[in-house]
Amino acid sequence: MQQMIIKNIRFLMQIDESGRRRVCGEEMKRVSSLEDAYLVIRDGKIAAYGKMDDYRFDETEYQIIDATGRFVFPAFCDSHTHIVYAASRESEFVDKINGLSYVEIAERGGGILNSAKRLHDTPEEELCKQAMCRVRECMGFGTGALEIKSGYGLSLEDELKMLRVIRRIKEEAGIAVRSTFLAAHAIPAEYKANPDGYVDLIVKEMIPIVGKEDLADYIDVFCDEGFFTVPQTERILEEGAKYGLIPKIHANELALSGGIQVGVRHGALSVDHLEHTGDAEIEELLQSETMPALLPGAAFFLGMNYPPARKMIDAGLSVALASDYNPGSSPSGNMKFVMSLAAIKMKMLPEEILNAVTLNGAYAMGLEKEYGSITVGKKASVVITKPMPSFAYFMYAYTSDLVEHVLF
Ligand code: NIG
Ligand code: FE
Repeated sequence: MQQMIIKNIRFLMQIDESGRRRVCGEEMKRVSSLEDAYLVIRDGKIAAYGKMDDYRFDETEYQIIDATGRFVFPAFCDSHTHIVYAASRESEFVDKINGLSYVEIAERGGGILNSAKRLHDTPEEELCKQAMCRVRECMGFGTGALEIKSGYGLSLEDELKMLRVIRRIKEEAGIAVRSTFLAAHAIPAEYKANPDGYVDLIVKEMIPIVGKEDLADYIDVFCDEGFFTVPQTERILEEGAKYGLIPKIHANELALSGGIQVGVRHGALSVDHLEHTGDAEIEELLQSETMPALLPGAAFFLGMNYPPARKMIDAGLSVALASDYNPGSSPSGNMKFVMSLAAIKMKMLPEEILNAVTLNGAYAMGLEKEYGSITVGKKASVVITKPMPSFAYFMYAYTSDLVEHVLF
């Protein structure tokens, strides 16, 4: 049996024995913590924790980590990434500096279509190597669970190639990985005049194979202005449901697209982005079990308005935060930076942010029973920080590398 103790922890944060699956509204302001604490880990799971005053262990039986001055909290649950891609897109970054918008770049064949071309030309082995490298980078930043989408294939063959790469990452990464089928990410050039023809291909050919071969946990559609319409999204989600593929939707990034409503109607686990969210959408979400997942890295990188996180939480919603790591709108998987953006740009409080990147992130990928809180029996997937004066400092010192150690 492998046994470990982390002792002298300045604050052990996000303790939860209530069994709740997510944290909503006002509750998001509260994080249960122990000062001057220890944490016992057995066979990779949380076995016990307590105050150092009650510390009575025979240390010869344990591997000991001394966390004097340090904070320990659950590793980040990043519920939205596009980490499998073939090449970076910094030339579009320069186009943006020169004044082109994300949509204008997409219309010229850049954007997602550019990534699809590069992915088509890249062997599976090479894709896997590059993606694993990014996964390891995220793990070093403190991420302990990750969702990864397809969506740069846009053909049966290349979507399956991406999903196989994600399956390999699941097997090899050493952290929890969930995979999402996102063929409906953009309309391929050959279907420009016939977008419904591409939806037919997704519904009639791709989904049955992905479903039968069990290649994805979830299904996603970029339901937004200029991408997929609400009726197209419904067709895709209805077909996905036949194979048990629960929706996680790209919604309302570019406009009030109806994406939130269609996601909620189809029992989406999460609706993501939400830069354009009004009162009607908030009302709809309040009546649902769907997690709003906000991606401030994309708003930062593309210079968009941020989603109204404050309004959502104040209305009683739960909110998750994710990186959206991808080559076009958010080329970073650094959850600590996402947390700083949430504080600085969306006025979320440090405790709200910790709830959003741990338990609520885990919920947004169906992992809340094993991840997202310090709970006896859950995976000991935890971050140990460098010495810090307070938890707020973690977001305040927004470029400092404050993650000292991550246990998976
Ligand atoms: O979540 N918005 C749609 N998809 C991605 C961007 C993909 C890309 O530009 O390559 C996103 O931001
Ligand atoms: Fe995305």
